[in-house]
Amino acid sequence: MTTEEIQRLVSEAEEAGKRAVAPYSGFKVGAALMTRGGMIFTASNVENPSLMLTACAERIALLNAVSSGQTDIAAMAVVSEKGGPCFPCGSCRQALYEFAPDAAIYLKAKDGIKKFTLEELLPYPFQKG
Ligand code: THU
Repeated sequence: MTTEEIQRLVSEAEEAGKRAVAPYSGFKVGAALMTRGGMIFTASNVENPSLMLTACAERIALLNAVSSGQTDIAAMAVVSEKGGPCFPCGSCRQALYEFAPDAAIYLKAKDGIKKFTLEELLPYPFQKG
């Protein structure tokens, strides 16, 4: 991905994070992913008073893309209002692995954008067999 594409993905994640519904944790997260065809899907976290129903921004963005028929995912950017870096939780890493095992993950930090691979973040994914 070009620097401009990475910047754009991070900006989209920031915009999405503004729409977070996080009255219980106060921790607003935004995520944006880019498909290999250049489409962008975004999401924020959405909390629920039944806390188990809370959904992470990353997984909503992922499911948004997949349920729209876009399963070839090149990269995801994640930002948090607190300044980050906001590492995807374990469940989101495993969910991403299913559709985006080769994805680059860009995390906005106070001192810039940090790049990781999903392989670095989830070296031993659960796999059947
Ligand atoms: N959260 C995310 O959206 N993504 C993450 O990677 C970690 C946590 C959300 C879930 C909850 O709404 C809040 O952040 C605090 O855990």
